[in-house]
Amino acid sequence: MKHLTLIISAAILSTLLLAACKTDSPLMPEVVDCNTLDNIYNGEVSSILNSNCATCHASTSSGSPFVIETYAEYLPYLESGEFEIEVLNDGARMADWGNLTEEEIQILQCWYDAGYPEN
Ligand code: HEC
Repeated sequence: MKHLTLIISAAILSTLLLAACKTDSPLMPEVVDCNTLDNIYNGEVSSILNSNCATCHASTSSGSPFVIETYAEYLPYLESGEFEIEVLNDGARMADWGNLTEEEIQILQCWYDAGYPEN
C-alpha cells in the first residue's frame, strides 16, 4: 500500500513538473508588451484588420451584411462594446472567422485598452 501511494505521488509530481515545463515552452504564444507598440489604428491595427477581416467586411466583399473597413466604420462597434465581444473576448466569433492569432488579438487588445486612437 505504501508503495502504491509512492508511485501515485511520483506520477502526480511528474505530471505537475511536465505541466510547469510546458508553460515555458517556446511553442506557447508570446506575451505582447503593449509598451512596444504604437497602439494606433493607422499602425499594426489596420494592417491586422485589413488582412483578416476585409475578406468579408470590405465594400467589395459579399461575406458580411456590414461594410467595416475604415476607422470611422469601426468606431460605432468599438463604442458599443460589440468589437470587444466579437473580436477580443475568449472564443469571440470574428477572431475565429478572421483566423486571428493570439498575438494579433493581444495587439488589438492593447489598442483597445489605450482608448482605440486613430493616429
Ligand atoms: C467569414 C467572413 C467574416 C470574417 C472573416 C469576419 N467577419 Fe465580422 N461578420 C461577418 C458576418 C456574417 C457578421 C454578421 C454576424 C451576425 O450578425 O450574426 C459579422 C459581424 C461583425 C461585427 C458586428 C457584430 C454585430 O452584430 O453588430 C463586427 C464588429 C465584426 N464582424 C468585426 C469583424 C472583425 C474585426 C473581423 C476580423 C478579425 C471580422 N469581423 C471577420 C463575417 C465575417
